[in-house]
Amino acid sequence: VYKEREELFSLNKLAARFYNYLLTETNMGEKALKYLNDRGFTKKDINKFNLGYAADEWQLLLNFLKKKNFSLHLIKKAGLISEGKNNSYYDKFRNRVMFPIFNNRGEVIAFGGRILESEDNYGPKYLNSPETKIFSKKKNLYGLHLAKDSIRKANSCIIMEGYTDVIQAHKNGFENSIASLGTAFTEEQAKLIKRYAENAYIAYDADTAGNKATLRGLDILNELGINVKVIELEEGSDPDQLLKQEGPNVFNDYLEKAVSLIDFKINMIVKDKNLSEPGSRKKILRSIIELLSEVEDDLEREIYIERAALKTNFKENVLAQEVEKEFKKNR
Ligand code: CTP
Ligand code: MN
Ligand code: MN
Ligand code: MN
Ligand code: MN
Repeated sequence: VYKEREELFSLNKLAARFYNYLLTETNMGEKALKYLNDRGFTKKDINKFNLGYAADEWQLLLNFLKKKNFSLHLIKKAGLISEGKNNSYYDKFRNRVMFPIFNNRGEVIAFGGRILESEDNYGPKYLNSPETKIFSKKKNLYGLHLAKDSIRKANSCIIMEGYTDVIQAHKNGFENSIASLGTAFTEEQAKLIKRYAENAYIAYDADTAGNKATLRGLDILNELGINVKVIELEEGSDPDQLLKQEGPNVFNDYLEKAVSLIDFKINMIVKDKNLSEPGSRKKILRSIIELLSEVEDDLEREIYIERAALKTNFKENVLAQEVEKEFKKNR
């Protein structure tokens, strides 16, 4: 079993090198290279993150790996091929920009592949390796092998959604950035972060999926005793887009304006709601009262009552009364 893990590491390493070669050295990779360059990713970024290209062929990687004496059994175990009819196999990743996923020691454990835009491509935008002997999505963080020293030094990390966010962040000097591999943030990932830092910023996409994931991530991190804040981006944006359009100084402004867990939750309760219609107003206030009644510290509770009253334009003393009532009920 130990040997198989080692073999999977070296197989993945070779596959990553193959994909990178196709991207940077061949005609086949030209379109993908242009795509990455157009998005602002340079040779340096491509090298640092070992990006690649999976060609628009059915068995290019498969044949290459076989020629290098890897068994079909192992290539299957690595999750790099899919099974077709009559015991035939074909490359799982085709015509995609490839993002190798590393463990914190820098070994390639899986891949994410992005569809090229502007093509009549089908399939999901991102395709990922399946769970394997060496890859568990919920136990890993994208970019951690490159970020861990910065995270330790800064005693904080910035948690993003995707590959491109992290690459763009590192490129712009935010080298303590990592991604949770999609929007599902897990306790295992929080524990991994806790090894290196006591503080975390969540910088998920400012869309419905991102907001929901932020709320979950906040609670998971908070329960582990990590001091966590939320970077609130403009609706529809993500860190990659903001950094590319506005640059590192503007992103840093957002970072400095990051809000606390409770503030973010109040913002989410109020967001896009009708604050004047009595029915919806009552619901909003109820949710806020419920939320604030969970704040243990008296002074902190008072501070948030004041802010919530301002945000909802509601009488502070009435809100305070209701929160205290609920607070006592909870004891
Ligand atoms: N993701 C995934 N499968 C999908 C969509 C997304 O695994 N079908 C993961 C990927 O890790 C991706 C992250 O979720 O990087 C964030 O998704 P999304 O915000 O949709 O993509 P971006 O990273 O913004 O990618 P791009 O800017 O290239 O559109
Ligand atoms: Mn997203
Ligand atoms: Mn995004
Ligand atoms: Mn994006
Ligand atoms: Mn209650």
